[in-house]
Amino acid sequence: MKKTVLFKNIRMILTLSGVRKKGGRHVTEEDLGIIQNAALVAEDGIISWIGPRKSLPKTYLKIKKIIDLKKQTLLPGFVECHTHTVFSGSRAEEFELRNQGVSYQEIAARGGGILSTMKNTRESSARELQNLSQARVNRFLRQGVTTLEMKTGYALDFEHELKCLKVMKTLGPIRIVPTYLGAHALPPEFKSTQGYLDFILKKVLPEIKKKKLAKRVDIFIEKSFFDATLAKKYLSTVKDLGFDIVIHADQLSLSGGADVATELQALSADHLIQIQDSEIKKLAKSKTTCVLLPAADLYMDCAYPPARKLLEAGARVALATDFNPGSSPTQDLNLVGLLARIKMKMTLPEVIAAYTFNAACALGLENEIGSLEVGKSADFMGIKGNWQELFYSIGVSQASSVYFSGQQISE
Ligand code: NIG
Ligand code: FE
Repeated sequence: MKKTVLFKNIRMILTLSGVRKKGGRHVTEEDLGIIQNAALVAEDGIISWIGPRKSLPKTYLKIKKIIDLKKQTLLPGFVECHTHTVFSGSRAEEFELRNQGVSYQEIAARGGGILSTMKNTRESSARELQNLSQARVNRFLRQGVTTLEMKTGYALDFEHELKCLKVMKTLGPIRIVPTYLGAHALPPEFKSTQGYLDFILKKVLPEIKKKKLAKRVDIFIEKSFFDATLAKKYLSTVKDLGFDIVIHADQLSLSGGADVATELQALSADHLIQIQDSEIKKLAKSKTTCVLLPAADLYMDCAYPPARKLLEAGARVALATDFNPGSSPTQDLNLVGLLARIKMKMTLPEVIAAYTFNAACALGLENEIGSLEVGKSADFMGIKGNWQELFYSIGVSQASSVYFSGQQISE
């Protein structure tokens, strides 16, 4: 028998149905698809009815399990589509160095940066990583995150990258989307990037596929990391193996990442600080979602990506924390949204779409999550104030209740 739940006494629901209809492009306030005095029915965690309370079909009045949402406003659970949540160790000392003028690349060249987190992550047991990561997942879910992407890329060898992917499988109770980012930096065991990418293709990816540990592959295209020509060849083979691809693109320099993303139809191109008008045009026409990570830009004390140009050209823009110990040691979604509003002049409806439907597109999950509509997962959060108060204060989450698949997971 199906488990049916009626959610009632909802002040309003931001369904995001209009955003979904427009494919997440040219979003305005009307696209939030607001229903006043609403009700929602979930059967086995999937929305089977949503609408104004007075239109609720009589058959649903027989439902035994009723949840009173006490006049909260509902919106889709946030989709955090770019994080590096599984890692060990801190890089606080490096942060001090950067503030004193040493560059990110220089710290990396001295063996700091990604390679220092690599050392700590390799040395940590699966249990230690699991405890650290679960605490971080909890911090995300309390803010209303019901789907959380996380990348490997802090172990860079066969054994420990797989250890990290297996740790991801143990995390919950929200939806975890693992991404393999072996091509994050060249590990010390390898002399050439080509040799390392060949090793990934021959040894690591077949195992990940066999064990069903990830369906997505990411790469850091950047000067002194992986260049666009090698990356393009690598990613084409990765696609042929059946993986979705995503790219850390044009963050520190214009290195061709966005172009590779549009040519190979990557699900997302992330960072995009250095892109110019020609890349903006191609991204706007493509299916690739542009994932902007302004908290990393704040920490790196660099320019912000040209969000308004992307939005006005018709690109689909998503936002995420890029949570990692180096360039973005924060899990605060409000900070991200606030920076998007202040520094990139995104409107509040654009920010809400960027953290829900558009982020779902970045994960290829737009048919399951990202808007509250019949057939989608009952993943939502309740807020007490007006939706206009979202992404307004830093450090205080608006989420007063969080539901994943129809079940309450946080107060
Ligand atoms: O998304 N750019 C590459 N990766 C991370 C930073 C990783 C690190 O510094 O540990 C990022 O910003
Ligand atoms: Fe990142």
